[in-house]
Amino acid sequence: MAASPDTSGFKTVHFSETTITELMIPSYSNFGGKIHGGILLSLMDKVAYVCAAKHAGNYCVTASIDTVDFLQPVEVGDLVSLMASVNYVGNTSLVVGIRVVSENIKTNVINHTNTSYFTMVAKDENNKPAQIPGLILENRDHVRRFIEAKRRKEIKQNYKNEVNQIAVPEGISECEQLLTGERVILINN
Ligand SMILES: CC(C)(COP(=O)(O)OP(=O)(O)OC[C@H]1O[C@@H](n2cnc3c(N)ncnc32)[C@H](O)[C@@H]1OP(=O)(O)O)[C@@H](O)C(=O)NCCC(=O)NCCS
Repeated sequence: MAASPDTSGFKTVHFSETTITELMIPSYSNFGGKIHGGILLSLMDKVAYVCAAKHAGNYCVTASIDTVDFLQPVEVGDLVSLMASVNYVGNTSLVVGIRVVSENIKTNVINHTNTSYFTMVAKDENNKPAQIPGLILENRDHVRRFIEAKRRKEIKQNYKNEVNQIAVPEGISECEQLLTGERVILINN
């Protein structure tokens, strides 16, 4: 029989899995009567923090958020649940995947509101990035999420490199060409 791997210094995904459920009260709504996106972002940051800090065993900060697209509006009176788990670990950073769903209490209809990925960095008592435990992957979903997160990280780096190369011409006439077809009027004083 093969020897079991040494798992000291590693934690399971299950160890830090976190769910927060919150009732959407009227003071969370915008002028259109739907829930403010900022309320959901704040809840996402909270659940990401709990999940990350539990895995890290340390204080964590939010380093970046990988896209937040709101797929469905959330109504006052809905129950919003945010399910978070560690998808990827680096050296001092980790990626928390968050799935957000809203439930109409009367009809029990559940809507997928969004899925986002928060990169969190563990900090030590001197406010320096601190090493985090490794991750024990126990099923194919864990492996899939880890590989997807690793790939997103690579794509983001390529994107950053391309964005850094964006250069706007000095001459206004060259700029004018780049504005062709856009809904702008250039008044060059
Ligand atoms: C994020 C932060 C900790 C990075 O600090 P740093 O001194 O640049 O640290 P490093 O360059 O050593 O990076 C540490 C880790 O964070 C990761 N990281 C840093 N910036 C990142 C970013 N923008 N997106 C994703 N990961 C990032 C690095 O890849 C590295 O990961 P690894 O150790 O797993 O390989 C620092 O910029 C910070 O404290 N920012 C403010 C965070 C905060 O206050 N958030 C709340 C919002 S107000």
